[in-house]
Amino acid sequence: METLEAIKKRHSVREYNLNKKVEQEKLNKILEAAISAPSGMNRQPWHFLVVQTEKNRKKVLEANLLVNKWMNTAPVIIIALADSKAFYGRESEKTYLFDVGLAVENLLIAATDLGLGTCVTIGFDEKKLREGLKIPDRYIPIVVIALGYEAENKIIEPLIKGITHSINKKKNFEEVVSFEKIEEI
Ligand SMILES: Cc1cc2nc3c(=O)[nH]c(=O)nc-3n(C[C@H](O)[C@H](O)[C@H](O)COP(=O)(O)O)c2cc1C
Repeated sequence: METLEAIKKRHSVREYNLNKKVEQEKLNKILEAAISAPSGMNRQPWHFLVVQTEKNRKKVLEANLLVNKWMNTAPVIIIALADSKAFYGRESEKTYLFDVGLAVENLLIAATDLGLGTCVTIGFDEKKLREGLKIPDRYIPIVVIALGYEAENKIIEPLIKGITHSINKKKNFEEVVSFEKIEEI
């Protein structure tokens, strides 16, 4: 798949085929893409915690808000964390969220390229997630990402449309892009 095609094709998937395992080789490629992202002063302030066992998936699901209950269909859950040891001082504090965001977008595009679905989520209880997965204090959970093969016949996703902003309509080009000067609307 061409890069631009993968960027256009990516969309949030909220129903997966739980029984279709994600191949380790693909998982590694996706994570490699994530950690290849640029970062402020090359600090690479990210860490990816991959969760696949029944026990740990359950811990994430328990930490999720009701709006993300659909994640129980995802065979793989990835927690994107910021490593506070990798950033210090005012300048790097400004960039770490941006840095992790860049890595996450790489991850999403690589997954699309390999035929997998993803959904980034922020609807979780940080304390529960920390405790459930025994995340050391130095790591800050930024987003929880669902990963897997998209379900062929979807039952849940149509039911939760609207609640989860699952309508992925994009703003018009003219509304969000300006050449030379921003016109006040
Ligand atoms: C930072 C962030 C947090 C998000 N949190 C959630 C979430 O908690 N639950 C959910 O279902 N979708 C969540 N989404 C997915 C957005 O709703 C989705 O990206 C948006 O509606 C655009 O749709 P698309 O991803 O299909 O293009 C989140 C996306 C981002 C980038």
